[in-house]
Amino acid sequence: MCCSLLPLLVALSPALLLLLQRPDVADGHWEDYKYGRQGAEHHCTWKCVLFTLQWPGGFCQSLNNESLCRIPQNVNNWTIHGLWPLKSKDCCDCWPMFHSDVQELEAELTEHWPSLLKTKSSFQFWREEWRKHGACAACVEGLNSPLRYFQICLKLRHQFDIHRLLDDAGITPSCDRPYKVEEVHGVLAPHLGDKLEIQCVTDDKGQQVWFQVKIGLSRNLTVGCDHHGDAAAGPGPGWYPSPGHPCPPGDPFYYLPIDHEQPLRPCG
Ligand SMILES: *[C@@H]1O[C@H](CO)[C@@H](O)[C@H](O)[C@H]1NC(C)=O
Ligand SMILES: *[C@@H]1O[C@H](CO)[C@@H](O)[C@H](O)[C@H]1NC(C)=O
Ligand SMILES: *[C@@H]1O[C@H](CO)[C@@H](O)[C@H](O)[C@H]1NC(C)=O
Repeated sequence: MCCSLLPLLVALSPALLLLLQRPDVADGHWEDYKYGRQGAEHHCTWKCVLFTLQWPGGFCQSLNNESLCRIPQNVNNWTIHGLWPLKSKDCCDCWPMFHSDVQELEAELTEHWPSLLKTKSSFQFWREEWRKHGACAACVEGLNSPLRYFQICLKLRHQFDIHRLLDDAGITPSCDRPYKVEEVHGVLAPHLGDKLEIQCVTDDKGQQVWFQVKIGLSRNLTVGCDHHGDAAAGPGPGWYPSPGHPCPPGDPFYYLPIDHEQPLRPCG
C-alpha cells in the first residue's frame, strides 16, 4: 500500500523531502515521536502510569520547613503533582520544553499545577515534570508533545475531582477530626480504582498527615493498572525532602485545611 503513495507525497511536499534528508531526523529518538514516525509506538515500553495529586494543606507538612512552602491565594484544592509512566525506558533529555509550549494553558496550570515551593517557579516545576516523566510518556499518541501532555493532565484533574467525592461523603479538611484509610479508600476506590494509594507524611508532632493520592492508569488512561511492587512507583527523585508513605492502615490521619498565611501551621 505504501509504494505507490510515496512518490506522490514527495512530489507534493518539498518540505517533507527536506525533512527526510536531515540527518538529525534520520537518527533521532526524539524526532521519532515528534514527527510521528512509524514504529515509535511499538517501542513504547510502559504499560502503567501514575497520576499523582497532592493536597496543599498536607504538602507543606512534608517539607517540615516554615520558609520553604507557599500556597498561592488561588490554590484551594487538590493540585497535580505529575503523570508518571512506570518502568519506562522511553525517556530522553532531548525534548526541551519552553514557556511558549504551554502558554495557552498557563492560567489553568497555575491554578491546578502550582509549585508550592518558594524556591521553584511553577514553570520550573512543569518543565522538570516534562523532562523526567512527560518525555517518557511521549511515545503514546495523544501525549506526544508538552502541550498534549499538560492538556491530558488537566483533563484528568477535572475527571478525578477528589475534593467533591470526599465532600459528598462528609470527608472535609479538619484540624480536629482524624480519618481512617479504610474510610477514605472506600469513598475513592469506586472512582479511582482499587489500586489507588493514599499517602501520608509524618508531621513534627508524629501525626500522620494526608498529602497525596496516586491513581494507577493503563496506557489508554482508563482507571486501574497493577503496579504492585513497582520500584519506580516512588515520587520523582529530588522533589521532596520527605517522600511520604502509604498511610498506615488502622492509624488515624489528618486531612488538614489549607491556610495561605501559615501553610505549615494551619491549625495554629
Ligand atoms: C529551610 O529552608 C530555607 C530556605 O531554603 C533554608 O535556608 C533553611 O536552612 C531551611 N531550614 C531547615 C531547618 O532546614
Ligand atoms: C475544588 O474543586 C471542585 C471542582 O473541581 C469544586 O467543586 C470545589 O468547590 C473546589 N473546592 C474549593 C475549596 O475550591
Ligand atoms: C484500556 O487498556 C486496558 C489494559 O490494557 C484494557 O483492558 C481496556 O480494555 C482498555 N480500554 C479501552 C477503552 O480501550
